[in-house]
Amino acid sequence: MTATIDVNVAQRATAAMAKRRTPLRRLRKLLSLDDFERAAERHLPRPVFGYVAGAAETDWSFHDNRAAFAEYGFVPRMLVDVSRRSQRTTLFGRTYASPFGIAPIGICALYAYRGDLVLARAAAAANIPMVMSGSSLIRLEELAAQSPGAWFQAYLPGDTSQIVPLIERVARAGFGTLVITVDSQVAGNRENNIRAGFSTPLRPTLRLAWDGITHPRWLAGTFLRTIVQHGMPHFENNFATRGAPILSSSVLRDYSDRGNLHWDHWKSVRDMWKGTLVIKGILDPRDAVRACELGADGVVVSNHGGRQLDGAIAPLRALPAIVAACRGVPVMIDGGVRRGTDVMKALALGAAFVFLGRPFGFAAAIAGEAGVEHAVALLAAEIDRNMAMLGITNLAELDPSWLVHVHASAGAAAK
Ligand code: GLV
Repeated sequence: MTATIDVNVAQRATAAMAKRRTPLRRLRKLLSLDDFERAAERHLPRPVFGYVAGAAETDWSFHDNRAAFAEYGFVPRMLVDVSRRSQRTTLFGRTYASPFGIAPIGICALYAYRGDLVLARAAAAANIPMVMSGSSLIRLEELAAQSPGAWFQAYLPGDTSQIVPLIERVARAGFGTLVITVDSQVAGNRENNIRAGFSTPLRPTLRLAWDGITHPRWLAGTFLRTIVQHGMPHFENNFATRGAPILSSSVLRDYSDRGNLHWDHWKSVRDMWKGTLVIKGILDPRDAVRACELGADGVVVSNHGGRQLDGAIAPLRALPAIVAACRGVPVMIDGGVRRGTDVMKALALGAAFVFLGRPFGFAAAIAGEAGVEHAVALLAAEIDRNMAMLGITNLAELDPSWLVHVHASAGAAAK
């Protein structure tokens, strides 16, 4: 019998590549999400690449995010009819083509031309969710008008008089889902950014100029093109009003400390926000329970891609206890996800949905919308193939019984 799959994921990669001729050659060589990172490292100036790729202090959490996935192995079942399989997944009443989405990634219009819009368009085309970062350089209203299905992620301002105007602005723009990130009380210690010459705003120095000149495709195709067509990018969405420019020798960015925020602020946002409200950056089941008692519609278990508290455990390790504590509330996860098998391990441990940031940022940087669509298609194809080899036709079949906890060295040589 010929295999019939309701979403022909195996062909989506080539379809995405075929859409535009120019990136075709470059995309053909990109076979896995990690390939996008290597290509982006060549394409982007060192400080810009370093901002996206880097984490905090010793990178302990960053590495633990990957290590946690390597500590699980699958136990596949054989001679199951897997000829009809579907990875469609329903979340907050909407059915998506795949169980993964695009996590919020800061300042992506600096590394990809019109980055946020590109990510949102590619996500809409692939029918997966995309979350716009609050640390973005394109006005949230523009993105909401273009991609009504996108979500918005906010950092609550530490100056609490600015919370209401920001939330009202996001609601006015028409977003239906608001994600509040709560793990950024203060800025993470990103020594790697300083070493790589990255800051916000970027300071115009000879070294920065050299970094730009030696990456002409980025300089002409992203940075200068943005300046010529849209003017100097500013942080548009941290507050209700415009923030600092991305390049300046003197302007200081308002990093207003958020250490004063507490659960009452979360509660006031819940009272204000009529749409779906998601809390992001949770690692302790007690916090997850409290968020849900105070009206969270969903929880994202996350350590911010290892970019905040270095030493915070991998979200995959926190996931099962949070899922157990939050019955009936979708628990999502991000951090360290690079393969279809990672997505499926998270789902088996109870995740309702999985988000990835950096790989999609790199994909947007090197090939715009076609790049993101290609990355989405590769991941979807991995999941589809893995489902067949695992012996399932529906992702709802996944539960912890498909996994065995293995010694970390078991997959040590894995890429
Ligand atoms: C923004 O969220 C960042 O981690 O840089």
